[in-house]
Amino acid sequence: MEYIFRILRYDPLKDERPSFQDYSFRTEEKMSVLEALMDIRNEQDSTLSFRYSCREAICGSCGMVINGKFDLACRAMVDSLKAPVIVIEPLPNLEIQKDLAVNMEPFFDAVHKIEPYVFSKKQVLEKGHRIEDKEMDKIFQYINCVLCGCCYSACPVVSRDEKYLGPAALAKLYRFIQDPRDERPFSNWSRVNTEGGVWGCDTVFKCNEVCPKEVRPADGIEALRRKLVVEKIKRIFRFKR
Ligand code: FES
Repeated sequence: MEYIFRILRYDPLKDERPSFQDYSFRTEEKMSVLEALMDIRNEQDSTLSFRYSCREAICGSCGMVINGKFDLACRAMVDSLKAPVIVIEPLPNLEIQKDLAVNMEPFFDAVHKIEPYVFSKKQVLEKGHRIEDKEMDKIFQYINCVLCGCCYSACPVVSRDEKYLGPAALAKLYRFIQDPRDERPFSNWSRVNTEGGVWGCDTVFKCNEVCPKEVRPADGIEALRRKLVVEKIKRIFRFKR
């Protein structure tokens, strides 16, 4: 079927502002938006820029806005969009480097700040540290995060406050403190007990709505808030005794 791909183009080195460019393109059956973009670049316009790697919704590189919906281009099927015109824009809230490629640095800086790895002094066992299924169930949805940045770029708080860590980083922190193998001290994770951390969230649930992997970061932020409050109360009572 013949489609118009309306793609936001911007080269900061030569364009004054972003503008849309149309490409007509005949797709094959079961073609993803990423495959269509690759063909357009190979056959019509080699200057078109976008990012991708795994092509199977694992690396998180190809996040973009497709007909108004945040998605991974390798996962969005052209036919399922059911529209003759497919509008493709880069992720908002992040600076455009070129066309659909944005600067992900602020997003990854926020993720690094929460130290996204298991803190453990235990010796690593030959078969690794296994955890029970029921413990895994509690963190499984957060493990599904592929760090595509869709939640971060859709977040209204991120758009007005550059100090806010954002939904992906905070949900990832929750994933680690819920992990029975993690031994990070309270002094480490209570650093998010701030306006730039868990209390910055407006709880509009935009992050839950846009995540292409069905993670619910806002739920993690809420749970983290509860955990912080409970821990603080416990510490006050311990201190009074
Ligand atoms: Fe890796 Fe799309 S290319 S998630």
